[in-house]
Amino acid sequence: MALKHIIKNNFKEKDPRQRAWLEIDSKAIESNVITLKKLIGDKCHLMAIVKADGYGHGVETVAKAAVLGGASYLGVASLHEGIQIRKLKIDCPVLILGNLTTVDDIDSCLYWNLLPTISSIDDAKTCQKIGSKYGLKFKIHLKIDTGMTRLGCDLKDAWHLFNSILQMKNVSLDGIYSHLAQADGDLEGESQKIFTSKQHEIFFDLYKKMSIASNKTCFHLANSAGTLRDKKLHYNMVRTGIALYGYSPIYNLKNKIRLKPAMSVKAKITFIRKVPPNVGVSYGNIYKTKKPSILAVVGIGYADGVSRSLSGKIFALFKGKYLPQIGAITMDQLVLDITDSPQLKVGDVVTLLGNDGTDFISAIHWSEMSGSIPWEVLCNFTHRLPRVII
Ligand SMILES: Cc1ncc(COP(=O)(O)O)c(C=O)c1O
Repeated sequence: MALKHIIKNNFKEKDPRQRAWLEIDSKAIESNVITLKKLIGDKCHLMAIVKADGYGHGVETVAKAAVLGGASYLGVASLHEGIQIRKLKIDCPVLILGNLTTVDDIDSCLYWNLLPTISSIDDAKTCQKIGSKYGLKFKIHLKIDTGMTRLGCDLKDAWHLFNSILQMKNVSLDGIYSHLAQADGDLEGESQKIFTSKQHEIFFDLYKKMSIASNKTCFHLANSAGTLRDKKLHYNMVRTGIALYGYSPIYNLKNKIRLKPAMSVKAKITFIRKVPPNVGVSYGNIYKTKKPSILAVVGIGYADGVSRSLSGKIFALFKGKYLPQIGAITMDQLVLDITDSPQLKVGDVVTLLGNDGTDFISAIHWSEMSGSIPWEVLCNFTHRLPRVII
């Protein structure tokens, strides 16, 4: 009885901002979709790529914001992720970008009204069988490899596979697509330009031949980089991931499109200590204080998604001040040098990534510091961090 009373009165169970959390700005996602829709124009669809729990932002928030902003398709990696969308009662077309490997999975795909990616005649035949079993037309997207060398049928088999699918009574070609391998990075880079235009030429050739035979089919090639790089890569639909979340995959864009990063990483200071010079900090004591210092322990670590490889290379923000992180990042905690901000106290909230008022730390900075890419930085935040929607 007494314990129940204490819990009821003192423990703020409902506030997830207890130790560390992600703030997700759903309006930023909606606004990024609106910005991208303006760029691609009314005739082109936007597929919002919401796989990997919406690139770590939380699939429900992202999918709903994207649809509000005007996305007409959603893209996921797996059957499981597709079913998750349906259970959220979102009913727009959903494409599974990964390959389904069993008949049961393909059957479930139709049951949940999801679109499979098909790269082989065997999988197309399985769709035909399942469609015929239920007396339905199974809508699919055919994937053709134009240079990514991952999923997709070989170019030499594409025409035959396309024609075979057209003959199947219970299969309909909702889409034909391919994926760009080198559109991101440097807009002016020779390799990026040459390779992307080669993929475009191949896809354009397929488009000319196949769109005559199948006029309701949606052709799509561009990821975020392709979408921002060149209008001629847009076709009937673009598949944007990273741009939805506020990051441009091309660092020297000509069209100065304004995207708003949607994720911020916040954590509380849990302990403050004063130490003399030459004191080793954190595992290995590799970092040594150079002068009398004030250190703040913050409750976030690599088990939350702050990679240990960032140790000593990042900052936290507090009211316009950049506080250097020092010593090894540990599983649940890291240390900041707050000597120049002695007013900080236990319970103050610092920003490790994203927005703090008008100041900002970019996932691109973290990716450069850890030899990674912004996609991976965003997806790395684990579910120990509650997602707080703002
Ligand atoms: C097939 C496919 N299309 C589109 C995307 C979206 O890519 P981006 O996040 O670079 O826009 C991905 C992401 O990995 C993908 O695999």
